[in-house]
Amino acid sequence: MGDQLRFDGQTVVVTGAGGGLGKAYATFFGSRGANIVVNDLGGSFKGEGKSTKAADVVVDEIKSKGGKAVANYDSVENGDAIIETAIKNFGRIDVLINNAGILRDVSFKNMTDADWDLIMKVHVKGAYKCARAAWPHFRKQKYGRLISTASAAGLFGSFGQCNYSAAKLSQVGFTETLAKEGAKYNILCNTIAPIAASRMTSTVMPPDVLENLKPDWVVPLVAVLAHSSNTSETGGIFEVGGGHVAKLRWERAKGALLRADDSLTPGAILSKWENVRDFSQPEHASGVADFLDLLEQAQKLPRNPPGEKIDFK
Ligand code: NAI
Repeated sequence: MGDQLRFDGQTVVVTGAGGGLGKAYATFFGSRGANIVVNDLGGSFKGEGKSTKAADVVVDEIKSKGGKAVANYDSVENGDAIIETAIKNFGRIDVLINNAGILRDVSFKNMTDADWDLIMKVHVKGAYKCARAAWPHFRKQKYGRLISTASAAGLFGSFGQCNYSAAKLSQVGFTETLAKEGAKYNILCNTIAPIAASRMTSTVMPPDVLENLKPDWVVPLVAVLAHSSNTSETGGIFEVGGGHVAKLRWERAKGALLRADDSLTPGAILSKWENVRDFSQPEHASGVADFLDLLEQAQKLPRNPPGEKIDFK
């Protein structure tokens, strides 16, 4: 108990906390002294319908164990109302876990605008609205911890999930930018790409695999990132699930440097294609390449060789 990460006196808002990962976060933070806003719209995993039951059950569970929790039944698109629930009941918000999500899986060929729009509304607009409403409080108190939820589908692509993939990768850019804007206010923002057994994954993975992918195995990383003792880990992407925790980052190939004049033709690039994709000595980029420096170097090069021979090896 003595060395437990505690969240006493803090308020943690968990969106989509009526089941799956969100429920695991909410009950954990509730057991570690935090006031919890259990947000859940209570619809199906495809985003149909709504019910107060999902959130109520989790609130009751937290309270039955001596914790403090209130329910909120708004869709994450109404982020203002969710954050207002935290302020009205507990007077503050310290941690926001943007977790709510749905699926509308369908091959790209058969995707409708409705499939696309609903996913964007819940994952992209919902995450934005909740963070936007929490932001002034975080800035004012010079403290905030934001956890965003991406997905392997967003990072690597996934058949039949182009809407979801697009929405999930958006969380990376969104959160990296908030990490930059929040740094001087002690607002730390990280993204997780979890894997866990839930109603979302129960149809696509076999039971024996799911048995080893408890949402509980994702929670500890989120606790570490959300705790006040984390004073520097921000703007990161973490893959987490089933006991595996690893940070991910971008990698830049060696690249080709070509003289930037009218000899920079498709053929000139193709003549250096091996360099363009040479990852043998990668640079772990955290921003765009130093273009001014590269341009100066490029201008010192001789004109690029002519020719447009296409030879992708
Ligand atoms: P889940 O379906 O068990 O839980 C999602 C919860 O969000 C549900 O309780 C649902 O009612 C709620 N919700 C949906 N739309 C909402 C809205 N508009 N407003 C408020 N609440 C809403 O799914 P799971 O697996 O726990 O997913 C949690 C998050 O993790 C999601 O963002 C999901 O995309 C992401 N994720 C999950 C993975 C997994 O392996 N389970 C893999 C990668 C990402």
